[in-house]
Formats: sequence, C-alpha cells, structure tokens
Amino acid sequence: MQTRVLPPTQESLALAADILKSGSLVAFPTETVYGLGADALNERAVRAIFAAKGRPADNPLIVHVSRPEAAQALCRIDSRAQSLMARFCPGPLTLLLPKKPCVPAAVNAGLPSVAVRIPSHPVARRLLEVCGVPVAAPSANASGKPSPTTAAHVLHDLDGKVPLILDGGECQVGLESTVVDLTSPIATVLRPGGVTPDMLLEVLPEVRVADSVLRPLRDGERALSPGMRYRHYAPGGQMTLVRGSQPHVERACLRLYQDALSRGESACILAFEEHLPAYAQARAISIGSLAQPQTVAHRLFAVLRRMDDEGVAVLCCEVLPPEGLGLAIMNRLSRAAAFRVLDADKEEQA
Ligand code: TXA
Ligand code: MG
Repeated sequence: MQTRVLPPTQESLALAADILKSGSLVAFPTETVYGLGADALNERAVRAIFAAKGRPADNPLIVHVSRPEAAQALCRIDSRAQSLMARFCPGPLTLLLPKKPCVPAAVNAGLPSVAVRIPSHPVARRLLEVCGVPVAAPSANASGKPSPTTAAHVLHDLDGKVPLILDGGECQVGLESTVVDLTSPIATVLRPGGVTPDMLLEVLPEVRVADSVLRPLRDGERALSPGMRYRHYAPGGQMTLVRGSQPHVERACLRLYQDALSRGESACILAFEEHLPAYAQARAISIGSLAQPQTVAHRLFAVLRRMDDEGVAVLCCEVLPPEGLGLAIMNRLSRAAAFRVLDADKEEQA
C-alpha cells in the first residue's frame, strides 16, 4: 500500500472521511499527538488499527467524537463527566465511562468501559465533523515507540501500512491526553497529561492519581489501564534519569557520559535549556525549559525519536518535580528509562 501525506485541505479532509467510512485507516493530528483512526463502529476497521501498529488486542482504544452529544451515543455520561466536559472539552482529556452496547468489543477489549475524547485540534475536529462517525484512534506510532508529534514520525513508523496521513504540523501539547477513570465513585487519573490533577480539582471534589503512574506495576498487579502493562516510549539506548541537587546532577551526568565514551559507546545528555552551559564539554541537547514545562512536553518525544534515529547507546536525562505538567513528563520519562533512576546526592556521599 502506498502512503500519501497530504496537507489538511477541504479535498484531503473529504478524502480522509471517505477512507474512514469505507473501513480503512487515516492518521491525523490532534493537539496531543497524532492518532491512527478508524470508524469506531466498524469492527473490521478497528482490527486493522491493531494490525498496522502491531498493538496487542487487549489494549483498548480511545474513541474520538466532535461534541458531547456524540459521546452520549457511546457511553453513560454522569454529572461528573458533564462538568469535566463543560470545562475541558474540547481538549487533552479522555474520560473512561460505562459503555453502551453499540461499541464493538474490539474497541475496548471487551471491558465494561469505553474511553472517549473530544480533541481540540482544528484538523481533528473538521475530520470528525466531515466523516460523521466516532473515530477510534490510538497514538499513530508503531507499538512500543514514542508517540508521534509530527507527520514525519507517523510516516517513519507506518509507511506502507496506512493509505493517508493528514499533515497538520507539530502537535502543540506533545504528550498524550490525561486519562481519567469515572467508572468508580472517586475519579482516578490513570495517565497524566495536559489536564493536570489540580485542574481536575477545580471541577471535582476529589481526584485520585493511580500510584502506578510513577512506578512499575508489581508482579501480578492488575493494570487499571491495560496500556500501563506494556513498555512504552522506549528509546533504543539505555536511559538513566538523574535526580538530586543541580551541581551533583551535572557531575553525575558528565560521569555517565564519559564512562560511555570510554567504553566506545555513543552518549548524550538530555538537559533543561537553562543547564546546557554546564555540559559544554559534552554532547548535550535541550529537552526544553525547566521554567516552562510545556516546552518539555512539546519536545520530549521528538528528542527521544532523534536519539533512536542516531542510535545513541547511553542517555542521561535531568528530571523535574512530578507536579503540575511535571507529573505527565515524569510518567513518560520514567517509562522511557524503564524506571532506572540515579540519586546523584547519594553518589556524592558514597
Ligand atoms: O492523546 C491521546 O490520548 C492520543 C490521541 C490520538 O487522542 N491517543 C492515545 O491513545 O494516546 P493510546 O491508545 O495510545 O492510549 C490510550 C490509553 C491506553 O493506555 C489504554 O490502555 C487506555 O488509554 N484505555 C483506553 N480505553 C480504556 C478502557 N476502557 N479502560 C482502561 N484503559 C483504557
Ligand atoms: Mg499510544
């Protein structure tokens, strides 16, 4: 199959809608990351998503709709969901709600809930309006790769596996949506994203954050969100997160870097913009500004992909407090590093 990459004109959006309605796949931009879409009510089309990504069938998909009324056909919307939608939708928020019978089991892996999201990206919104069907879409990466934030990332992973990629430029948020489980009495964040727990608390009296957000699942522990079971956002190289006071972090990063070079391995330090001067003698690249975490979210996956493309073997990465948007950033970084964290303060004492 030949993959076409087209700008989002009226004609290409009409073509994309036809492709979706005929049961095939279209990759499209959202404000978070690119999605790989299929008609959510067409079971065969939904299965094609899993095949194209190499995604395990027991990892359920998010269904995208253009308006809350369209979500009503798919799930039962309670007053909490109504308030969240009124405040944050369209936007980077996904709600898990009790599903209605029309949702095929292939979409939600046969679970009692379905994930719904109303994206704010103008191209996603226009596509959903023109095609008129709910669109099931996971991130448009090959399973196990960082989510794509440009059309070029999608093409890299899915060339020949999808007929059309709509190119809407770089995704603004850069990390996947916040997933909130509303199927139990206390709303629980299963995956942190652009809508932070504090923002959710502006609308809900109580919000829990699943503690697996910042640690690996224990043996035999049930994943609240099946996606948490899989190794995600994994760069090819070995990545270590380095925490502690800044001078200690800098010394530890430089030491890991030099150790790699002396073993004959390629290495790179991933540092906040503000700290780059400290690494002048090493290869260091910016993951964005510590003072503006949204720049880190925006850039992170592109940086990880670049490290992969260059085959960098050893990565040392600075960290930030897991607060606000920092929680989503640390959730992705922890997984990319397979939870390998070095405490630079302890190293200095030893
Ligand atoms: O920003 C996003 O959410 C992007 C864009 C394309 O919308 N989509 C995305 O989809 O990140 P995906 O499939 O890569 O991640 C969906 C996550 C997975 O961890 C999945 O396990 C979880 O949501 N999920 C979906 N439906 C679920 C359900 N019924 N119960 C529990 N977890 C669910
Ligand atoms: Mg994904």
